[in-house]
Amino acid sequence: MVIGGQWGDEGKGKFVSDLAPYVDVFVRSQGGPNSGHTVMVNGRKYAFHQVPSGAAFRKPSIMTAGMVINPLLLYDEMQQVDDPSVVLIDARTAVITRAHRALDGYGEINGTAIGTTRQGMGPAYESKANRRELITIGDMLDKQRLAEKIANYALAHAVELLQVAEMEQIAVAKGELDPKNALVQSNLSREQYCNLLTDELFAAGQKLAPHIVDDTSIILQQAVNSAKRILVEGAQGVLLDRDVGTVPYVTSSRTTAGATLADAGLSRYADQKNGYWGVIKAYTTRVGGGPFPTELKNGTGELLRQKGFEFGTTTGRARRTGWFDAVATAYAIRMGEISSGYLTKIDVLSAVKEPMICVAYEIDGARTAEFPADARVLGRAIPILEPAGRIERINRHDIVMAGRKKGFDALPENARAYVERVETLLRDLSGAKDFEISAISVGPWKGQTVVKQAFV
Ligand code: GDP
Ligand code: IMO
Ligand code: MG
Repeated sequence: MVIGGQWGDEGKGKFVSDLAPYVDVFVRSQGGPNSGHTVMVNGRKYAFHQVPSGAAFRKPSIMTAGMVINPLLLYDEMQQVDDPSVVLIDARTAVITRAHRALDGYGEINGTAIGTTRQGMGPAYESKANRRELITIGDMLDKQRLAEKIANYALAHAVELLQVAEMEQIAVAKGELDPKNALVQSNLSREQYCNLLTDELFAAGQKLAPHIVDDTSIILQQAVNSAKRILVEGAQGVLLDRDVGTVPYVTSSRTTAGATLADAGLSRYADQKNGYWGVIKAYTTRVGGGPFPTELKNGTGELLRQKGFEFGTTTGRARRTGWFDAVATAYAIRMGEISSGYLTKIDVLSAVKEPMICVAYEIDGARTAEFPADARVLGRAIPILEPAGRIERINRHDIVMAGRKKGFDALPENARAYVERVETLLRDLSGAKDFEISAISVGPWKGQTVVKQAFV
């Protein structure tokens, strides 16, 4: 089990690439095209959104019913791997239509602006939760059923869709939107619009048909029975969890290890003590809105953004950057049930002259090391910072070579001290006494990693 230990984009794809040789079957069980996981291996760079990162390694890569999927994007996404036939998707998985994407954007303008990825995540999970509006991947194979479900959705959301059409018309008139990219075509009647959605989804269904499986849990059970090693790849991060993240500035699914594993139907088999991995960045980033106590809106923040290439894999938006926040990350370890950490991007942090670690907050004049449950309170938190000492330049090649023999000791002294300080703080603040940082990533490519505690 691999999850994100902060606000997403910690480097989950990189960690999956390191684990790939030890894994037989890969699983994604929640989230959808809002994710962007980068895998860099053998001179190639892959960007996975919906497909499990393991597909780059030609191994069975399964998408279970907990996800929400944009089928119009899925086929092309699969084509980046050498053997797309490894990708299988559960027929019960919910479909994201253009209409869901339209309503996601509409909510950003007419509701609380969360800064979503505008991929239609929230509206698609709403359709799933209310059941009446759910369109599944399996439905795409039956044109009449699909048409009925789309008509039902368009009728239920007729007023909002009309409003989106008006907004889009204005944007087109101003030259801000190419009419081809309009999510609701204002020149079409509702019936014509429904036909358009039905046709495009039916066509996508025909292309995806060989990948659609009625019940992916049978395949997973067979894998368990034949002692295959299964990796569940989480998406987003614990602080973006719908229930226990910085609500309402969160995603629409659950992102903790427990929830993600349950969505895959595999909790029974998980090795919690050694196998609930949290990927943690050596500094902090966040995309979209919401409180971010250690945010750096200065040259240092910009340096981290440039050196760490902190631009969204999904939306291209510049990621907000800031110091490592031990209070927030410790909370994520506790709520996310993380047992081991994989610390990324220490090489990027080494570009900063005077790195800091946030060890506590000051809120309304009082010091606390508890992460406030209420995002409005978190918004008032002033970070209490501790100087961490400048990290030596990371010579990736030498460190990785030396790391094969010396492990953690291959890292320069101050880098080791940084890792140890982070580990101690996270242990103390989370209450997870046996939490360990077991590996440190020093670059984006598979294998640019130093192992502290053998992880398999
Ligand atoms: P994910 O969503 O958690 O999979 O993370 P993303 O792929 O969205 O963002 C992480 C970015 O950092 C990607 O561009 C990775 O290639 C890159 N990356 C991961 N680990 C490291 C590292 O240790 N050092 C550097 N320099 N880049 C890294
Ligand atoms: P990975 O898997 C970073 C953020 C969005 C927004 C909020 C809600 O690559 O780590 P949504 O579109 O999900 O309704 O947006 O959640 N968000 C992510 N931020 N990484 C992600 O995924 C994210 N997925 C969603 O920026 O703030
Ligand atoms: Mg990402």
